[in-house]
Amino acid sequence: MAYNMKKTVLVSGGAGFIGSHVTVELAQAGYDVVIADNMSNCDETNYKGVCAILGKEMPFVKMDFCDTEAVDALFAKYRFDALIHFAAFKAVGESVDDPLKYYTNNLGSFLNILAAARKSGTHVLFSSSATVYGEPEKKPVTEQSPRQPATSPYGNTKQMCEDFLRDCVKAYGMHGIALRYFNPIGAHPSALIGELPRGIPNNLVPFITQTAIGKRECLRIFGNDYPTEDGTCLRDYIDIVDLARAHVCAVTRMVEDKMDEPYEIFNIGTGRPVSVLELVTAFEKVNNLKLNYVFAPRRAGDVMAIWADPGLAERKLGWKATRTVPETLAAAWAWEKHLQELGL
Ligand code: WQD
Repeated sequence: MAYNMKKTVLVSGGAGFIGSHVTVELAQAGYDVVIADNMSNCDETNYKGVCAILGKEMPFVKMDFCDTEAVDALFAKYRFDALIHFAAFKAVGESVDDPLKYYTNNLGSFLNILAAARKSGTHVLFSSSATVYGEPEKKPVTEQSPRQPATSPYGNTKQMCEDFLRDCVKAYGMHGIALRYFNPIGAHPSALIGELPRGIPNNLVPFITQTAIGKRECLRIFGNDYPTEDGTCLRDYIDIVDLARAHVCAVTRMVEDKMDEPYEIFNIGTGRPVSVLELVTAFEKVNNLKLNYVFAPRRAGDVMAIWADPGLAERKLGWKATRTVPETLAAAWAWEKHLQELGL
């Protein structure tokens, strides 16, 4: 009898920016992937792009993870070896204005996921964020660097979900990994999937590409009076495909039973600080264009400087970032041009 040895991974929020790239990398690494998404913050562009890259229709379930019955039905239909949870709201400012929206959705959906994972013995990968470190005293930050009180309900949900996972792993004999992303940017080299911000982008790179293509008039660089070399903030910008590959390594570590501890945390960054101005200049250079920008006052809530020590991920996951900033910014620009062709 034919026996399918392939492992199956659930990707919640698989039609979004990070989820779509992770789906592609998992499928290309030989995993069966089921995408589940309520499509509340995206359209079908990335889902279609994923199918085009992989050359097949990917299993897709339209559902909301806050709906307990829908979650039960999903886990009754499939047997997942691991799941990756991305389905969440992610706008920092909106979370300050409407905290209940964020707490209800981001915590409620993850609690349902954890209950289903516990019942079915599914390994859990949670998408956390470097935002848990706040403004770090020592840089680069390691996984041992202290978490700081969150400055937004969004950031708070990341910390709380990490804690939910840690406690469930401890109490129920589950296995879980939290990946703390630095600043994910770029797009797939095919230009078929990428970031699709709704309305005015909050994040730097979509704002840059939209300004370059003429959707926005001018980029504002928030603060040039920080005590950094050029006065602008420092971040660790991590290519989205590199970041996606870290998930394949982490899932494999869980399903092959290679974990040192049942709950592990890894920083996913490059280890390289880049200033806002450096990023803008690199974008202009690699894409051979001039960007309209001005210096503006600091943005409330921004940290001055943060970058990762990615050493633990390299040692334990066998993962490290490989793509250069120019490569990543060229991909981001190709994606913006693809969106223009699509009329988006
Ligand atoms: C990067 C730098 C800005 C826009 C946030 C969340 C984090 C994570 C990713 C997501 C900063 C500057 C930006 C602009 C600018 N979560 N900037 N002009 O703030 O590091 O992280 O997004 O889901 O949790 O906090 O990323 O891309 O917004 O900003 O000058 O128009 O670019 O001041 O220094 P950030 P970002």
